[in-house]
Amino acid sequence: MLLSYFCHSIILIMISEIIIGNVCKKYPNGIEALKDVSLEISKGQFFTLLGPNGAGKSTLVRILTTLARKDSGHFLIAGLHPDPDYRKIQKLIGVASQDNEIDPAGTVENLLIFQARLFRIPVKDATQRAGVLIKLFELGNECRKKAGELSGGNKRRLHCALALVHKPQVLFLDEPTVGMDPLARANFWEIITQMNRAENVTVFLTTQYLEEADRYASNMALINEGKICYNGTIAGFKKMVNPDRALSLDDAYLKYIKTNHR
Ligand SMILES: Nc1ncnc2c1ncn2[C@@H]1O[C@H](COP(=O)(O)OP(=O)(O)O)[C@@H](O)[C@H]1O
Ligand SMILES: [Mg+2]
Repeated sequence: MLLSYFCHSIILIMISEIIIGNVCKKYPNGIEALKDVSLEISKGQFFTLLGPNGAGKSTLVRILTTLARKDSGHFLIAGLHPDPDYRKIQKLIGVASQDNEIDPAGTVENLLIFQARLFRIPVKDATQRAGVLIKLFELGNECRKKAGELSGGNKRRLHCALALVHKPQVLFLDEPTVGMDPLARANFWEIITQMNRAENVTVFLTTQYLEEADRYASNMALINEGKICYNGTIAGFKKMVNPDRALSLDDAYLKYIKTNHR
């Protein structure tokens, strides 16, 4: 019995990139942002966490990326526990978070090089990597501009480029495409889906653009007031909400929220 539990746990750790167990978080103002959150995301999965404003998405992202502390529960990223191994976790994850601070006085190119140097990438390789990312995110015309002078959409592109500097194996994207124009958005998703498919990079996305989640993600969880109320495939969610007729994720989500959370 004990042995089978042990084997099951080992297998889970081997195939799961992110394991979250019973995570709770209460802010000093008394708001319970996360209530007993448990999820598993397997290696190479494109996962999306959906939910209304204030549901707890960014709080969970901040905890998993070691930028905030949980009150209780546990989580593992690539089998690593954040307490002894938070630096190792930081090396293998990339984060484009909603509230990432960027030095407004740094130029796009210098910020990318600096970020690469933080990951101990040698100067020559750091400069080369910055060049690749500037090209990839079509920031060529902006590369000598200061971050503080960028438009909102270009700042988001820079956030995302900074998240990829060290070629992470897990990517956390917290509403990454807010403010991007349609072309920049399409280009962004091409980069991310290529990394997900060709390099098996695990993606943890939060977004309010449900057509993006519908198009690119395979699995989802729905969080409301800090509680997970659905966890499974996107196809399964649509079927659960409307068994008779195929709905878009947008329609299924609206129907679910209107029926269950009003
Ligand atoms: N630093 C903070 N201090 C106090 N309350 C916070 C803080 N950050 C978020 N909250 C609250 O926690 C809840 C979840 O917020 P958040 O995780 O940002 O939600 P989401 O990303 O889903 O919109 C909200 O009620 C929000 O007001
Ligand atoms: Mg948020």
